[in-house]
Amino acid sequence: MRNKKILITGGAGFIGSHVVRLLVNKYPNYKIYNLDTLTYAGNLENLKDIERADNYSFLKADINDADLIHILFKEHQFDSVIHLAAESHVDRSISDPLAFVKTNVIGTMNLLNAALENWKDNFQNKLFYHISTDEVYGTLGETGLFTETTAYDPNSPYSASKAGSDHFVRAYGETYGLPYIISNCSNNYGPNQFPEKLIPLFINNIVNKKELPVYGDGKYTRDWLFVKDHAEAIDLAFHKGEIKETYNIGGFNEWQNIDLIQLLCEIMDKKLNRNEGDSAKLITYVKDRPGHDKRYAIDASKINKELGWKPSVTFEEGLEKTIDWYLENEVWLKNVTSGKYQEYYDKQYN
Ligand code: NAD
Ligand code: DAU
Repeated sequence: MRNKKILITGGAGFIGSHVVRLLVNKYPNYKIYNLDTLTYAGNLENLKDIERADNYSFLKADINDADLIHILFKEHQFDSVIHLAAESHVDRSISDPLAFVKTNVIGTMNLLNAALENWKDNFQNKLFYHISTDEVYGTLGETGLFTETTAYDPNSPYSASKAGSDHFVRAYGETYGLPYIISNCSNNYGPNQFPEKLIPLFINNIVNKKELPVYGDGKYTRDWLFVKDHAEAIDLAFHKGEIKETYNIGGFNEWQNIDLIQLLCEIMDKKLNRNEGDSAKLITYVKDRPGHDKRYAIDASKINKELGWKPSVTFEEGLEKTIDWYLENEVWLKNVTSGKYQEYYDKQYN
Protein backbone atom coordinates (compact mmCIF):
# COMPACT_ATOMS: atom_id res chain seq x y z
CA MET A 1 0.00 0.00 0.00
CA ARG A 2 1.25 3.51 -0.87
CA ASN A 3 2.48 5.68 1.97
CA LYS A 4 0.18 8.58 2.64
CA LYS A 5 0.28 11.88 4.50
CA ILE A 6 -3.26 12.35 5.74
CA LEU A 7 -4.57 15.51 7.33
CA ILE A 8 -7.46 14.63 9.65
CA THR A 9 -9.32 17.71 10.90
CA GLY A 10 -11.31 17.59 14.14
CA GLY A 11 -9.35 14.54 15.30
CA ALA A 12 -9.61 15.50 18.98
CA GLY A 13 -13.40 15.35 18.86
CA PHE A 14 -15.75 12.43 19.23
CA ILE A 15 -15.76 10.73 15.80
CA GLY A 16 -12.42 12.21 14.75
CA SER A 17 -10.57 10.62 17.68
CA HIS A 18 -11.88 7.17 16.70
CA VAL A 19 -10.83 7.75 13.08
CA VAL A 20 -7.35 8.96 14.11
CA ARG A 21 -6.82 5.96 16.42
CA LEU A 22 -7.98 3.48 13.77
CA LEU A 23 -5.70 4.86 11.05
CA VAL A 24 -2.66 5.39 13.31
CA ASN A 25 -2.85 1.77 14.50
CA LYS A 26 -3.81 0.19 11.19
CA TYR A 27 -1.39 2.01 8.86
CA PRO A 28 2.03 2.40 10.53
CA ASN A 29 3.50 3.46 7.16
CA TYR A 30 1.11 6.44 6.86
CA LYS A 31 1.73 9.77 8.50
CA ILE A 32 -1.40 10.99 10.29
CA TYR A 33 -1.69 14.69 11.14
CA ASN A 34 -4.50 15.60 13.51
CA LEU A 35 -5.43 19.26 13.09
CA ASP A 36 -7.75 20.63 15.76
CA THR A 37 -8.25 23.98 17.45
CA LEU A 38 -9.54 22.28 20.61
CA THR A 39 -12.92 23.93 21.12
CA TYR A 40 -15.01 22.81 24.10
CA ALA A 41 -15.66 19.59 22.10
CA GLY A 42 -12.02 18.79 21.34
CA ASN A 43 -10.06 16.88 23.94
CA LEU A 44 -6.57 15.42 23.54
CA GLU A 45 -7.30 13.05 26.42
CA ASN A 46 -9.28 11.12 23.81
CA LEU A 47 -6.01 10.17 22.13
CA LYS A 48 -3.69 9.48 25.10
CA ASP A 49 -3.05 5.90 23.97
CA ILE A 50 -1.63 6.86 20.55
CA GLU A 51 -0.17 10.33 21.13
CA ARG A 52 3.41 9.03 21.11
CA ALA A 53 3.07 6.89 17.99
CA ASP A 54 5.79 7.59 15.38
CA ASN A 55 3.25 8.07 12.60
CA TYR A 56 1.13 10.64 14.51
CA SER A 57 1.42 14.43 14.90
CA PHE A 58 -0.93 16.94 16.45
CA LEU A 59 -1.29 20.40 14.86
CA LYS A 60 -3.17 22.95 16.94
CA ALA A 61 -4.83 25.18 14.35
CA ASP A 62 -8.14 26.78 13.53
CA ILE A 63 -9.58 25.98 10.09
CA ASN A 64 -10.93 29.54 10.05
CA ASP A 65 -7.34 30.80 9.82
CA ALA A 66 -6.82 30.60 6.05
CA ASP A 67 -3.17 31.75 6.13
CA LEU A 68 -2.18 29.17 8.70
CA ILE A 69 -3.96 26.39 6.81
CA HIS A 70 -2.04 27.35 3.64
CA ILE A 71 1.26 27.38 5.55
CA LEU A 72 0.57 23.94 7.05
CA PHE A 73 -0.28 22.48 3.62
CA LYS A 74 2.95 23.87 2.16
CA GLU A 75 5.02 22.65 5.10
CA HIS A 76 3.65 19.11 5.36
CA GLN A 77 2.53 18.40 1.78
CA PHE A 78 -0.57 16.41 2.79
CA ASP A 79 -1.83 14.20 -0.01
CA SER A 80 -5.27 13.58 1.48
CA VAL A 81 -7.69 15.26 3.85
CA ILE A 82 -10.34 13.61 6.01
CA HIS A 83 -12.37 16.60 7.14
CA LEU A 84 -14.35 16.18 10.36
CA ALA A 85 -13.76 19.51 12.14
CA ALA A 86 -17.08 21.23 12.67
CA GLU A 87 -19.45 22.81 15.10
CA SER A 88 -21.68 19.78 15.55
CA HIS A 89 -24.47 20.41 18.07
CA VAL A 90 -27.90 21.41 16.69
CA ASP A 91 -28.99 23.22 19.90
CA ARG A 92 -25.88 25.41 19.85
CA SER A 93 -26.55 26.24 16.19
CA ILE A 94 -29.95 27.62 17.18
CA SER A 95 -28.45 30.07 19.67
CA ASP A 96 -25.31 30.96 17.63
CA PRO A 97 -25.83 30.22 13.91
CA LEU A 98 -22.94 32.39 12.71
CA ALA A 99 -20.36 30.29 14.54
CA PHE A 100 -21.60 27.36 12.42
CA VAL A 101 -21.32 29.29 9.16
CA LYS A 102 -17.78 30.33 10.09
CA THR A 103 -16.37 26.91 10.92
CA ASN A 104 -18.55 24.63 8.82
CA VAL A 105 -18.73 26.71 5.63
CA ILE A 106 -15.78 29.15 5.67
CA GLY A 107 -13.49 26.68 7.47
CA THR A 108 -14.27 24.04 4.84
CA MET A 109 -13.63 26.62 2.08
CA ASN A 110 -10.22 27.38 3.58
CA LEU A 111 -9.31 23.69 3.47
CA LEU A 112 -10.63 23.32 -0.09
CA ASN A 113 -8.61 26.34 -1.23
CA ALA A 114 -5.42 25.09 0.39
CA ALA A 115 -5.89 21.60 -1.06
CA LEU A 116 -6.58 23.01 -4.53
CA GLU A 117 -3.60 25.35 -4.43
CA ASN A 118 -1.27 22.51 -3.47
CA TRP A 119 -2.70 19.75 -5.64
CA LYS A 120 -3.86 21.53 -8.81
CA ASP A 121 -0.82 20.56 -10.92
CA ASN A 122 -1.32 16.87 -10.22
CA PHE A 123 -4.52 15.49 -8.74
CA GLN A 124 -3.30 11.88 -8.92
CA ASN A 125 -3.52 10.05 -5.57
CA LYS A 126 -5.01 13.12 -3.90
CA LEU A 127 -8.33 13.02 -2.05
CA PHE A 128 -10.51 15.46 -0.12
CA TYR A 129 -12.83 13.29 1.98
CA HIS A 130 -15.60 15.37 3.53
CA ILE A 131 -17.55 13.96 6.48
CA SER A 132 -21.16 15.06 6.50
CA THR A 133 -24.46 14.20 8.08
CA ASP A 134 -27.87 12.79 7.19
CA GLU A 135 -29.41 16.01 8.57
CA VAL A 136 -28.75 17.75 5.23
CA TYR A 137 -31.67 15.75 3.80
CA GLY A 138 -34.13 17.37 6.23
CA THR A 139 -36.81 15.23 7.77
CA LEU A 140 -38.68 12.04 6.82
CA GLY A 141 -42.33 11.22 7.42
CA GLU A 142 -43.45 7.88 8.85
CA THR A 143 -41.91 5.92 5.98
CA GLY A 144 -39.01 6.07 3.52
CA LEU A 145 -35.25 6.31 3.87
CA PHE A 146 -32.61 8.87 2.91
CA THR A 147 -30.66 7.72 -0.16
CA GLU A 148 -27.68 9.40 -1.81
CA THR A 149 -30.06 11.06 -4.30
CA THR A 150 -32.53 12.47 -1.76
CA ALA A 151 -32.77 16.25 -2.30
CA TYR A 152 -31.10 18.45 0.29
CA ASP A 153 -33.64 20.16 2.57
CA PRO A 154 -31.86 21.26 5.76
CA ASN A 155 -33.94 22.64 8.63
CA SER A 156 -31.49 23.79 11.32
CA PRO A 157 -28.63 26.27 11.09
CA TYR A 158 -26.32 23.30 11.77
CA SER A 159 -27.67 21.21 8.90
CA ALA A 160 -27.82 24.25 6.60
CA SER A 161 -24.14 24.93 7.29
CA LYS A 162 -23.23 21.27 6.66
CA ALA A 163 -25.29 21.30 3.45
CA GLY A 164 -23.45 24.46 2.36
CA SER A 165 -20.09 22.79 2.96
CA ASP A 166 -21.17 19.67 1.03
CA HIS A 167 -22.20 21.85 -1.92
CA PHE A 168 -18.84 23.63 -1.95
CA VAL A 169 -16.95 20.33 -1.88
CA ARG A 170 -18.98 19.11 -4.88
CA ALA A 171 -18.56 22.45 -6.66
CA TYR A 172 -14.76 22.28 -6.25
CA GLY A 173 -14.89 18.81 -7.79
CA GLU A 174 -16.98 19.93 -10.76
CA THR A 175 -15.33 23.31 -11.32
CA TYR A 176 -11.67 22.66 -10.55
CA GLY A 177 -11.46 18.86 -10.72
CA LEU A 178 -10.60 18.47 -7.03
CA PRO A 179 -10.95 14.74 -6.21
CA TYR A 180 -13.47 14.34 -3.41
CA ILE A 181 -15.68 11.83 -1.63
CA ILE A 182 -18.52 12.76 0.73
CA SER A 183 -20.21 10.53 3.27
CA ASN A 184 -23.41 11.38 5.11
CA CYS A 185 -23.87 9.51 8.35
CA SER A 186 -26.68 9.07 10.85
CA ASN A 187 -26.48 9.64 14.64
CA ASN A 188 -23.33 8.25 16.20
CA TYR A 189 -22.99 7.08 19.79
CA GLY A 190 -20.14 5.57 21.78
CA PRO A 191 -17.16 6.42 24.01
CA ASN A 192 -15.77 10.00 24.06
CA GLN A 193 -18.93 11.79 22.92
CA PHE A 194 -19.34 15.18 24.57
CA PRO A 195 -22.23 15.02 27.07
CA GLU A 196 -24.42 17.59 25.34
CA LYS A 197 -25.71 14.97 22.86
CA LEU A 198 -28.64 12.78 23.88
CA ILE A 199 -26.99 9.50 24.94
CA PRO A 200 -23.98 10.76 26.96
CA LEU A 201 -26.04 13.63 28.43
CA PHE A 202 -28.67 11.21 29.71
CA ILE A 203 -26.07 8.71 31.02
CA ASN A 204 -24.42 11.53 32.96
CA ASN A 205 -27.75 12.81 34.28
CA ILE A 206 -28.85 9.34 35.39
CA VAL A 207 -25.56 8.84 37.26
CA ASN A 208 -26.12 12.19 38.99
CA LYS A 209 -29.88 11.65 39.50
CA LYS A 210 -30.66 14.76 37.44
CA GLU A 211 -33.77 15.29 35.27
CA LEU A 212 -33.74 13.74 31.78
CA PRO A 213 -35.01 16.57 29.54
CA VAL A 214 -37.03 14.98 26.72
CA TYR A 215 -37.83 17.47 23.95
CA GLY A 216 -41.49 17.69 22.87
CA ASP A 217 -43.40 14.41 22.97
CA GLY A 218 -40.23 12.30 22.67
CA LYS A 219 -41.57 10.65 19.52
CA TYR A 220 -38.72 11.75 17.29
CA THR A 221 -36.82 9.03 15.48
CA ARG A 222 -33.07 8.72 14.95
CA ASP A 223 -30.98 5.98 13.31
CA TRP A 224 -28.13 5.13 15.70
CA LEU A 225 -24.67 3.87 14.70
CA PHE A 226 -21.80 2.84 16.98
CA VAL A 227 -18.94 5.30 16.41
CA LYS A 228 -16.31 2.60 15.73
CA ASP A 229 -18.47 1.28 12.90
CA HIS A 230 -18.56 4.79 11.43
CA ALA A 231 -14.75 4.98 11.68
CA GLU A 232 -14.49 1.62 9.83
CA ALA A 233 -16.83 2.91 7.12
CA ILE A 234 -14.71 6.05 6.72
CA ASP A 235 -11.54 3.94 6.40
CA LEU A 236 -13.22 1.83 3.73
CA ALA A 237 -14.69 4.72 1.73
CA PHE A 238 -11.37 6.60 1.97
CA HIS A 239 -9.44 3.66 0.47
CA LYS A 240 -11.99 2.02 -1.81
CA GLY A 241 -14.63 4.68 -2.55
CA GLU A 242 -15.12 6.15 -6.01
CA ILE A 243 -14.03 9.72 -6.57
CA LYS A 244 -16.97 12.19 -6.78
CA GLU A 245 -19.31 9.72 -5.05
CA THR A 246 -21.43 10.13 -1.95
CA TYR A 247 -21.96 7.27 0.50
CA ASN A 248 -24.74 7.20 3.05
CA ILE A 249 -23.74 5.48 6.30
CA GLY A 250 -26.29 4.38 8.88
CA GLY A 251 -27.06 1.84 11.56
CA PHE A 252 -30.18 0.16 10.11
CA ASN A 253 -31.30 0.96 13.64
CA GLU A 254 -34.22 3.36 14.15
CA TRP A 255 -35.36 4.30 17.63
CA GLN A 256 -37.94 6.76 18.88
CA ASN A 257 -36.19 8.88 21.50
CA ILE A 258 -38.54 7.87 24.30
CA ASP A 259 -38.06 4.12 23.64
CA LEU A 260 -34.29 4.56 23.56
CA ILE A 261 -34.42 6.54 26.81
CA GLN A 262 -36.53 3.83 28.49
CA LEU A 263 -33.98 1.19 27.41
CA LEU A 264 -31.12 3.34 28.69
CA CYS A 265 -32.91 3.78 32.03
CA GLU A 266 -33.46 0.01 32.38
CA ILE A 267 -29.81 -0.82 31.68
CA MET A 268 -28.57 1.97 33.97
CA ASP A 269 -30.79 0.78 36.86
CA LYS A 270 -29.11 -2.63 36.62
CA LYS A 271 -25.57 -1.25 36.25
CA LEU A 272 -25.99 1.13 39.18
CA ASN A 273 -27.80 -1.41 41.37
CA ARG A 274 -30.85 0.83 41.59
CA ASN A 275 -34.47 -0.31 41.81
CA GLU A 276 -36.21 -1.04 38.52
CA GLY A 277 -37.93 2.18 37.38
CA ASP A 278 -35.75 4.58 39.42
CA SER A 279 -34.01 6.18 36.41
CA ALA A 280 -37.22 6.44 34.38
CA LYS A 281 -38.66 8.64 37.16
CA LEU A 282 -36.14 11.28 36.08
CA ILE A 283 -37.79 11.62 32.63
CA THR A 284 -39.10 15.19 32.25
CA TYR A 285 -40.83 16.46 29.13
CA VAL A 286 -39.51 19.93 28.25
CA LYS A 287 -40.07 22.55 25.55
CA ASP A 288 -39.37 21.21 22.07
CA ARG A 289 -36.32 22.08 19.98
CA PRO A 290 -37.37 24.65 17.31
CA GLY A 291 -37.37 23.16 13.80
CA HIS A 292 -37.00 19.66 15.32
CA ASP A 293 -36.69 17.07 12.53
CA LYS A 294 -39.21 14.26 13.06
CA ARG A 295 -37.39 11.29 11.65
CA TYR A 296 -33.99 10.37 10.19
CA ALA A 297 -33.27 6.97 8.65
CA ILE A 298 -30.48 6.08 6.28
CA ASP A 299 -30.51 3.66 3.39
CA ALA A 300 -26.92 2.38 3.62
CA SER A 301 -27.31 -0.19 0.84
CA LYS A 302 -24.88 1.56 -1.54
CA ILE A 303 -21.86 1.35 0.78
CA ASN A 304 -22.99 -2.14 1.76
CA LYS A 305 -23.23 -3.43 -1.83
CA GLU A 306 -20.31 -1.52 -3.37
CA LEU A 307 -17.78 -1.57 -0.53
CA GLY A 308 -19.05 -4.41 1.65
CA TRP A 309 -19.56 -2.32 4.80
CA LYS A 310 -22.10 -3.10 7.49
CA PRO A 311 -22.31 -2.32 11.21
CA SER A 312 -20.44 -4.85 13.36
CA VAL A 313 -22.30 -4.48 16.67
CA THR A 314 -25.98 -4.57 17.57
CA PHE A 315 -27.45 -1.54 19.30
CA GLU A 316 -27.77 -3.47 22.57
CA GLU A 317 -24.05 -4.40 22.48
CA GLY A 318 -22.96 -0.90 21.46
CA LEU A 319 -25.10 0.79 24.10
CA GLU A 320 -23.77 -1.51 26.82
CA LYS A 321 -20.15 -0.80 25.78
CA THR A 322 -20.93 2.93 25.75
CA ILE A 323 -22.52 2.94 29.21
CA ASP A 324 -19.62 0.90 30.62
CA TRP A 325 -17.12 3.35 29.11
CA TYR A 326 -18.83 6.35 30.76
CA LEU A 327 -19.08 4.57 34.10
CA GLU A 328 -15.38 3.64 33.93
CA ASN A 329 -14.28 7.11 32.81
CA GLU A 330 -15.72 9.31 35.53
CA VAL A 331 -12.65 11.55 35.47
CA TRP A 332 -13.02 12.23 31.73
CA LEU A 333 -16.66 13.09 32.32
CA LYS A 334 -15.89 15.32 35.31
CA ASN A 335 -13.18 17.17 33.37
CA VAL A 336 -15.41 17.97 30.41
CA THR A 337 -18.48 18.88 32.47
CA SER A 338 -16.80 21.50 34.66
CA GLY A 339 -16.57 25.24 34.00
CA LYS A 340 -18.03 26.42 30.70
CA TYR A 341 -20.20 23.32 30.32
CA GLN A 342 -22.23 24.36 33.38
CA GLU A 343 -22.93 27.76 31.84
CA TYR A 344 -24.13 26.08 28.63
CA TYR A 345 -26.27 23.61 30.59
CA ASP A 346 -27.98 26.29 32.67
CA LYS A 347 -28.70 28.41 29.60
CA GLN A 348 -30.04 25.47 27.55
CA TYR A 349 -32.17 23.74 30.16
CA ASN A 350 -33.17 26.28 32.84
P1 NAD B 1 -17.40 17.01 17.85
O1 NAD B 1 -18.13 18.29 18.14
O2 NAD B 1 -17.30 15.97 18.89
O3 NAD B 1 -15.90 17.34 17.39
C1 NAD B 1 -15.59 18.39 16.52
C2 NAD B 1 -14.08 18.61 16.58
O4 NAD B 1 -13.77 19.66 15.66
C3 NAD B 1 -13.57 19.03 17.95
O5 NAD B 1 -12.39 18.36 18.27
C4 NAD B 1 -13.30 20.53 17.78
O6 NAD B 1 -12.26 21.01 18.62
C5 NAD B 1 -12.92 20.59 16.31
N1 NAD B 1 -13.15 21.91 15.73
C6 NAD B 1 -14.29 22.66 15.83
N2 NAD B 1 -14.12 23.84 15.22
C7 NAD B 1 -12.86 23.84 14.71
C8 NAD B 1 -12.10 24.78 13.98
N3 NAD B 1 -12.61 25.98 13.67
N4 NAD B 1 -10.84 24.46 13.62
C9 NAD B 1 -10.31 23.25 13.95
N5 NAD B 1 -10.97 22.33 14.67
C10 NAD B 1 -12.23 22.62 15.04
O7 NAD B 1 -18.07 16.46 16.52
P2 NAD B 1 -18.37 14.95 16.08
O8 NAD B 1 -19.67 14.55 16.63
O9 NAD B 1 -17.17 14.13 16.31
O10 NAD B 1 -18.57 15.19 14.51
C11 NAD B 1 -17.47 15.16 13.62
C12 NAD B 1 -17.95 15.39 12.20
O11 NAD B 1 -18.89 14.38 11.85
C13 NAD B 1 -18.68 16.72 12.00
O12 NAD B 1 -18.33 17.22 10.74
C14 NAD B 1 -20.16 16.35 12.06
O13 NAD B 1 -20.93 17.24 11.30
C15 NAD B 1 -20.12 14.97 11.43
N6 NAD B 1 -21.19 14.04 11.86
C16 NAD B 1 -21.44 13.83 13.19
C17 NAD B 1 -22.42 12.89 13.56
C18 NAD B 1 -22.72 12.62 15.02
O14 NAD B 1 -23.68 11.89 15.29
N7 NAD B 1 -21.94 13.11 15.97
C19 NAD B 1 -23.13 12.21 12.58
C20 NAD B 1 -22.85 12.47 11.23
C21 NAD B 1 -21.87 13.38 10.88
O1 DAU C 1 -28.03 12.70 12.40
C1 DAU C 1 -26.68 13.04 12.54
C2 DAU C 1 -26.56 14.16 13.55
O2 DAU C 1 -26.85 13.59 14.81
C3 DAU C 1 -25.19 14.82 13.56
O3 DAU C 1 -24.96 15.43 12.33
C4 DAU C 1 -25.09 15.84 14.69
O4 DAU C 1 -23.77 16.36 14.75
C5 DAU C 1 -25.42 15.15 15.99
O5 DAU C 1 -25.41 16.10 17.03
C6 DAU C 1 -26.79 14.46 15.91
O6 DAU C 1 -27.85 15.43 15.84
P1 DAU C 1 -29.22 15.24 16.66
O7 DAU C 1 -29.84 16.55 16.84
O8 DAU C 1 -30.03 14.14 16.09
O9 DAU C 1 -28.59 14.68 18.05
P2 DAU C 1 -28.89 15.02 19.58
O10 DAU C 1 -28.12 14.04 20.40
O11 DAU C 1 -28.72 16.48 19.88
O12 DAU C 1 -30.43 14.68 19.71
C7 DAU C 1 -30.94 13.39 19.43
C8 DAU C 1 -32.44 13.42 19.62
O13 DAU C 1 -32.71 13.59 21.03
C9 DAU C 1 -33.14 14.58 18.92
O14 DAU C 1 -34.41 14.16 18.49
C10 DAU C 1 -33.29 15.64 20.02
C11 DAU C 1 -33.48 14.79 21.28
N1 DAU C 1 -32.95 15.42 22.53
C12 DAU C 1 -31.69 15.86 22.55
C13 DAU C 1 -31.17 16.46 23.67
C14 DAU C 1 -29.75 16.98 23.69
C15 DAU C 1 -33.78 15.51 23.65
O15 DAU C 1 -34.94 15.07 23.63
N2 DAU C 1 -33.26 16.10 24.76
C16 DAU C 1 -32.01 16.61 24.84
O16 DAU C 1 -31.61 17.17 25.89
